[in-house]
Amino acid sequence: MRRRTAVLLSGRGSNCAALIDAAADPAYPAEIALVLTNVPDAPGLARAAAAGVPTAAIDHRSFGRDRAAHERAVIAALRAAGIELVCLAGYMRVLTPLLVGAYAGRMLNIHPSLLPAFPGLHTHAAALAAGVKLHGCTVHLVTEALDAGPIVAQAAVPVLPGDTEATLAARVLVQELRLYPLALALLAGGGAGVPAAADATLCNPLPGAGGVA
Ligand code: GAR
Repeated sequence: MRRRTAVLLSGRGSNCAALIDAAADPAYPAEIALVLTNVPDAPGLARAAAAGVPTAAIDHRSFGRDRAAHERAVIAALRAAGIELVCLAGYMRVLTPLLVGAYAGRMLNIHPSLLPAFPGLHTHAAALAAGVKLHGCTVHLVTEALDAGPIVAQAAVPVLPGDTEATLAARVLVQELRLYPLALALLAGGGAGVPAAADATLCNPLPGAGGVA
């Protein structure tokens, strides 16, 4: 039985598209049953709709400062669609315990750094400023602490001489688009890499992904 999965996004939607592509294989253990955004004109929503995936837009601005009310509406939409698993993919909202709790152990996020290094925003600029030689991306379970949940998978890339924020971001994104479908498959399939406690770390599962975090 494929696990009904929602992708939440706020922008471009390239990770969402990678998940939709992976789930096009009937053998993939998750189906993308809903793509939901807080930004009605997010390009990612149009991409998902063009791929034939059901979409929903719940604009956070309609709820003013009431984050809980916005999240209640999101949770209602997820439940109405029978969603079991949630993938945050460039969903640029800080979640409250309400949404985190509704999908505890069943919600993934992709973050563009090798966590615990560089949580928060502007990760590529921070990596360049710190002078690290390895950078990358992380898929982790979402907990109440920002960018700090149990790590499911990571992929590393080298930082090369002359890199700019844009060149480094592009190199990381290539790995994001490979990593997220793998991590969702692990969670959806209950695979060896993700036990119920979900405290296992699988570093660099990808051939040729670069160094180890
Ligand atoms: C991705 O690089 C993702 O890692 C990042 O936003 C981008 C979304 O791109 N997420 C975060 O920074 C979360 N803190 P996409 O919409 O093309 O998938």
